[in-house]
Amino acid sequence: MICTIPARAAHRCNPPRQREASHPIRRSLLIETRLAIVTGASRGLGRSIASRLAADGMHVMAIARSADPLQSLVEEITAAGGTAEFRVCDIGEANALGELIEEISETAGRLDVLVNNAGITRDGLLMRMSDEDFDDVVNVNLRSTFVACRAAARPMMKGRYGRIVNIGSVSGVTGNPGQANYAAAKAGMIGLTKTVAKELGGKGITANVVAPGFIKTDMTEAMVPLLEQEMVKRISTRRLGEPSDISAAVAFLASEEASYVTGQVLVVDGGLAL
Ligand code: NAI
Repeated sequence: MICTIPARAAHRCNPPRQREASHPIRRSLLIETRLAIVTGASRGLGRSIASRLAADGMHVMAIARSADPLQSLVEEITAAGGTAEFRVCDIGEANALGELIEEISETAGRLDVLVNNAGITRDGLLMRMSDEDFDDVVNVNLRSTFVACRAAARPMMKGRYGRIVNIGSVSGVTGNPGQANYAAAKAGMIGLTKTVAKELGGKGITANVVAPGFIKTDMTEAMVPLLEQEMVKRISTRRLGEPSDISAAVAFLASEEASYVTGQVLVVDGGLAL
């Protein structure tokens, strides 16, 4: 995500009173099909990742805060010949995501792929950044990733197979003015991922970070053309990224072929951070 100063308004959704969900998991379907959980799948990069993993033959469990866009994603995937379900969850709420992952993997009898994609920004310069904005971003972007990795470890160890892909940011690699909270959370994600890779590597589980640069999502659509032109000048490939640039990288790291790649940060930024 790019830095937007002054800080964008904080959109904190009301947590759902009861968990909205699509059809229950069909366990029989999953005997030979890998199950992939994707957070933040309602739009942007998460939606593209969910569609790509489904196109690659996985059964996708899409998680986000609102049911309607998730329902339309499931319909899109189904129309394209894939299979998917959704669950509504505010991943910022204590251990809600951990409990949901346990429930999903127990019902399905497996968990093969976890993509921690959901994220938020609350940008502002260091001296003006509130404790709340720091805590919110670390909670949603980093703490939820820890909670999810911890919950995924048991079913993945049981299956002696797992692919964890955490969506970081170039901001977490290089730092970025106005994003002390976001850069800290995304940098923390790198340390977390390397540790998970070391702890679980012997069980057939890999953990990697994909660190996007400037990617065209709802947020970058709102950028004024002049600012976009300035950004493009800083990118070696002279274009903003497409969500499909990110989902292609995730698809590789989530595949069986990537079994010897772990603890890595794959920067997908068109050369921005060079
Ligand atoms: P987006 O704002 O379009 O989508 C974010 C998704 O996360 C949505 O589905 C939203 O519902 C979900 N989400 C946010 N807070 C949540 C919560 N508390 N509980 C459940 N779901 C929640 O963002 P975008 O652009 O698709 O970014 C996705 C990921 O990629 C984020 O982690 C972001 O930090 C990262 N990223 C994006 C870049 C970009 O240029 N778009 C650049 C670098 C990193």
